[in-house]
Amino acid sequence: MVLPTQLPAAPEGTPSNTVALPRTNQLAGLLTIIRDAKTNRGDFIFYSDRIIRLLVEEGLNHLPVVEKTVNTPTGLEYNGVGFEGKICGISIMRAGEAMEAGLRECCRAVRIGKILIQRDEETHQAKLFYAKLPDDIAQRYCLLLDPMLATGGSAIKAIEVLLDHGVPQSRIVFLNLVASPEGLEAMYKAYPEVKVVTAWIDESLNEQKYIVPGLGDFGDRYFTSN
Ligand code: URA
Repeated sequence: MVLPTQLPAAPEGTPSNTVALPRTNQLAGLLTIIRDAKTNRGDFIFYSDRIIRLLVEEGLNHLPVVEKTVNTPTGLEYNGVGFEGKICGISIMRAGEAMEAGLRECCRAVRIGKILIQRDEETHQAKLFYAKLPDDIAQRYCLLLDPMLATGGSAIKAIEVLLDHGVPQSRIVFLNLVASPEGLEAMYKAYPEVKVVTAWIDESLNEQKYIVPGLGDFGDRYFTSN
């Protein structure tokens, strides 16, 4: 029997802009299910969605609040806080779209933009193919959604697009399920003020640039596999 434990969230050397969820048995158990190659798509969706919900709740912790006082039914005042500022979600297609529902569960009417980035076959560089973003994105805090951070190429390109639309780095929170140390390092080097919230930092990348031990192709397993 393995007793409840909580390991350190982020391995040593993790860039300072990165926050990893606490490595509880609960989180490790959910990740064990989605990493298992034998897990079918229904379970993959169900357990990924549970992790995504945890990520979104943690991501919201990194948005600013202002003091707010309310009157409770007991007739007393409660000095609490309220969220300041407007937010939006931006999913990096296709895998990031899997995180939209989890964001909507926490922020009901949230606006969601989309960015499609693919690798250029000739240059091997991440290339922007499509972006549809809220008109007032420059006034919003942006939760950028992509479940797998491998080399960081797509995320860095997506951030470039947000900056081009007037969003400062400090208003971007990148939400991610599994990250590679290489991807985190590249993100930090390019955009040190962008906050990264990840569920788990894996060991490295393999030659095909998949995260290892990883979970395979997230988009395929969530949207199209058996
Ligand atoms: N995208 C995925 O879906 N999986 C990886 O391991 C890397 C990128």
